[in-house]
Amino acid sequence: MISCVSSVDLASILGVSSIKSNIKLVDALATPERDAIILYSIAKTLTPKFVLEIGTFYGHTTYGLAVNSPKSTIYTIDICKEMGIGVPSYQAIERLPKNEVGKRFKNSNLKIVQIFGDSRNSSIYKEPPDFDFVYIDGNHSAGSIISDTENVFNKTTKNALIFWHDYKDDGLVETKSALKQIINKFGINIWHIRDSWLAFTMKTTECGFCTEQRAAH
Ligand SMILES: C[S@@+](CC[C@H](N)C(=O)[O-])C[C@H]1O[C@@H](n2cnc3c(N)ncnc32)[C@H](O)[C@@H]1O
Repeated sequence: MISCVSSVDLASILGVSSIKSNIKLVDALATPERDAIILYSIAKTLTPKFVLEIGTFYGHTTYGLAVNSPKSTIYTIDICKEMGIGVPSYQAIERLPKNEVGKRFKNSNLKIVQIFGDSRNSSIYKEPPDFDFVYIDGNHSAGSIISDTENVFNKTTKNALIFWHDYKDDGLVETKSALKQIINKFGINIWHIRDSWLAFTMKTTECGFCTEQRAAH
């Protein structure tokens, strides 16, 4: 059984090499430019049909994905302050009023579909299509990351790429512990992208975490 996450260089992922983006991220709580550029590079290279971002915030990364991969439709999910949905105390500052969520792409003509709701609730995924590319950057508790991961595994195409943020953040976020639990429970391969806080997997099955996968581990 695989029990750890190994590091890979960006260039070794499907031949993708880094590109520059003229999008400057202005908020300290948004995905840092270093990591956002990796996501934009991969999306630009692969042109996924349907992209999902969990955790819209002001919409900086949503915007960057849409600009760099204009043929993709980007779905982005977030809660807002008015919903009163709980988050870890260190994330309370990220819960924005409804009119602020996704502000970066409001009034743009980009192919972005904004959804308000709790990403841990599986019913929110009923209407959207299956995704080819997912970026999980919502509630950073281990339980929520595992729940988001299980939901997107049931809502992605075979060979979909799934990314998690904050893997190398050794502060309060629980991404590292969540990914260890996911590896142990479901036996999937997860890689960390060197010099970034991103980790990713490629889904190799048609279904979610298949029952055969569960039985084997
Ligand atoms: C670190 S910010 C996301 C940053 C954004 N991806 C970017 O790059 O600009 C985390 C976001 O997750 C959202 N969030 C927290 N709990 C959530 C939940 N249960 N469902 C959906 N979004 C959630 C927060 O409201 C916040 O906007």
